[in-house]
Amino acid sequence: MNFDTRMVPSVQKALHNHIIVAKHDDNIVGYVYSNISPKEAYDNEFATFFDLSTVNGKNVGCLSQFYIKEAYRQYGIGSTLFDRSMEWLKQFEDIHDYFIFVSNGNHNALEFYKRKGFTVSHEILDGFITVLRSSRRENQRYE
Ligand SMILES: CC(C)(COP(=O)(O)OP(=O)(O)OC[C@H]1O[C@@H](n2cnc3c(N)ncnc32)[C@H](O)[C@@H]1OP(=O)(O)O)[C@@H](O)C(=O)NCCC(=O)NCCS
Repeated sequence: MNFDTRMVPSVQKALHNHIIVAKHDDNIVGYVYSNISPKEAYDNEFATFFDLSTVNGKNVGCLSQFYIKEAYRQYGIGSTLFDRSMEWLKQFEDIHDYFIFVSNGNHNALEFYKRKGFTVSHEILDGFITVLRSSRRENQRYE
């Protein structure tokens, strides 16, 4: 997966895209990318990311990419970017379901998202990716 195979198609398929960068002086030290996409975007030749019938409505929200430079972790920057992303996603009142996809072995990120209120739904691609989800109601603390 690289910029051309992951980022570009994701941005193109999405209805709305949102990127926040964190800067230290003029240096970018992290970013988070979220989007609103038709749920059909998650059922493709690569994988079925979730059972589309479990989603209320046509579109879903996704916190799609998230990275803080190692030296800047554990200072609350990730939590701030996460909260701002959820605030952005929550603006779309017709969206009821939010997803995050975590690679196998990324225990740190998995626990981070669980502490933020997401729950493990299931695994896909032979356990290579863990699907986390949350619903609008579960996320009321972000309203
Ligand atoms: C996951 C990731 C984005 C979290 O970013 P972060 O900036 O370290 O996140 P935070 O500092 O807000 O929170 C991490 C932990 O640091 C600690 N922490 C937060 N603020 C702190 C502070 N002021 N002082 C000391 N510790 C603090 C807490 O233990 C916190 O856990 P919590 O959720 O219980 O509060 C980051 O680890 C990362 O980029 N990982 C590599 C890429 C990755 O895995 N991305 C996810 C792909 S799905």
